Amino acid sequence: MIFETHDESETWEVAKRFAATLRPGDVVCLEGDLGAGKTTFTQGLCAALGAKRAVTSPTFCIVSEHPAADFLVVHMDLYRLHGEEDVLQIGWEDYLSRGAVLVVEWPDRAGSLVPETARHVRFTYAEAENMRIIEF
Ligand SMILES: Nc1ncnc2c1ncn2[C@@H]1O[C@H](COP(=O)(O)OP(=O)(O)OP(=O)(O)O)[C@@H](O)[C@H]1O
Ligand SMILES: [Mg+2]
Repeated sequence: MIFETHDESETWEVAKRFAATLRPGDVVCLEGDLGAGKTTFTQGLCAALGAKRAVTSPTFCIVSEHPAADFLVVHMDLYRLHGEEDVLQIGWEDYLSRGAVLVVEWPDRAGSLVPETARHVRFTYAEAENMRIIEF
């Protein structure tokens, strides 16, 4: 599916749609440039699932946990990590073995840890400043 959004609230609406399709153990790779809307999408996703804890700026946090009704949502921003060893250190496998949903910015840092079954959400800038294309 492909969506065009024009502000944060529209991106939240798309995230809500996506959130309804999540299952325990899903790995969700968020792909797109700096400022493309990955964290905004994650905020909307957590809100849609009723996960209480706020999604904080990744400047302060590489991994944050957001308990939702049916599973734990784990938001990871791997931008500052350097490879699979780093990603294992923050508990990648532990979270997966517990059936958490991993929502991952900059998933390329996780290399082969990303399962074949991972889901991909792609964010691209459109011409207008606030326009984003979101595909999943
Ligand atoms: N349609 C839109 N959807 C989402 N965010 C938008 C939109 N239009 C403008 N913005 C702005 O773009 C920025 C998106 O920032 P966000 O932190 O979500 O990006 P990111 O992809 O997580 O970046 P990074 O890779 O640096 O973590 C915010 O400042 C937001 O207000
Ligand atoms: Mg971000």
